[in-house]
Amino acid sequence: MIRRRRVIFMSLAVAFATFLYTCGNNNFIYFESLQRNKQCACSFCTSNEDDDPWFTQRYKQFIEPLLTRSNSALSKEVYSWWQSLQFASHRANYTAVIEKLFKIFPDNPQVMDTEPDLCRTCAVVGNSGNLLGSHYGKLIDIHDFVFRMNKGPTKGFETDVGTKTTHRVIYPESAVDVDNSTHLVLAPFKTLDLQWLISAFTTKDIKRTYKNVRTTIQANKNKVMVLHPAFMKYVYESWLQKHGRYPSTGFLVLVLALHVCDEVNVFGFGADKNGNWHHYFEKVRNNAGAQEHGRNFENEITVQLLTKMKIQIFRGW
Ligand code: C5P
Repeated sequence: MIRRRRVIFMSLAVAFATFLYTCGNNNFIYFESLQRNKQCACSFCTSNEDDDPWFTQRYKQFIEPLLTRSNSALSKEVYSWWQSLQFASHRANYTAVIEKLFKIFPDNPQVMDTEPDLCRTCAVVGNSGNLLGSHYGKLIDIHDFVFRMNKGPTKGFETDVGTKTTHRVIYPESAVDVDNSTHLVLAPFKTLDLQWLISAFTTKDIKRTYKNVRTTIQANKNKVMVLHPAFMKYVYESWLQKHGRYPSTGFLVLVLALHVCDEVNVFGFGADKNGNWHHYFEKVRNNAGAQEHGRNFENEITVQLLTKMKIQIFRGW
């Protein structure tokens, strides 16, 4: 009985939040936002002309998040930082790999361009166990773009995490199949990761990086995108001030969203209500990954972004 009341209460609360959220982005707000010289028509825009110094110090407006044929040459600094991230037993010829890559995948991918009369909303959905029991599914699904990451499934968790996935950010060791409408976005930590992507769609002969990886992946090859190594270095240096070894997938996606969305809402980040750091789709509760990613610092920056009203965080129940 108490459990039933709790579920009804949570459903009503989320329905009410969804209602408020939808109202917040409708047309009368649009006029108000134009009056305030905003860069977009949402009630809060991630980037505005009157941004505060903390944000502008970190946010490089013109960085290109995605690798394209024309921006693929890497500076010496970017290349050596990128190569130092992960041990790879063989060093491939980066230029030759890029040539192959853009023979198979779109060579000028775009996420979207921002315009003053549009409000493009994004949900960044991490894999935290705090999503369990949240009833956020419907709220997540009403966003224009839903970014998910790594192995986080929707099947079996629809009520809490939703069903829509417009972009899934992965690396070879965390790859899963995606449906035909989803953009598979590779976060490459080494040249071998680019080779793996090529192989997964062609010869299927790369079976191992530093561990066994999937040899093939189901995804629409016309929707494949790759994060730019210079963007990853920018996230590490400008946002994380070199804390940890490299940014977590979640933090990379969060900064990606700051660059390509007008409004960013964050779900499934952080510990659950008992202080456990685990995945909503796994029973194991551990602390893996804390060191590589400087988790505490990532948390601090995420909270600062909330304080500066650049993002909203939905923490689960
Ligand atoms: O663990 P995994 O890297 O697949 O999770 C994706 C992202 O979700 C993480 O990089 C992190 O930002 C976020 N996450 C979290 N708290 C958890 C699990 C994941 O913030 N307990």
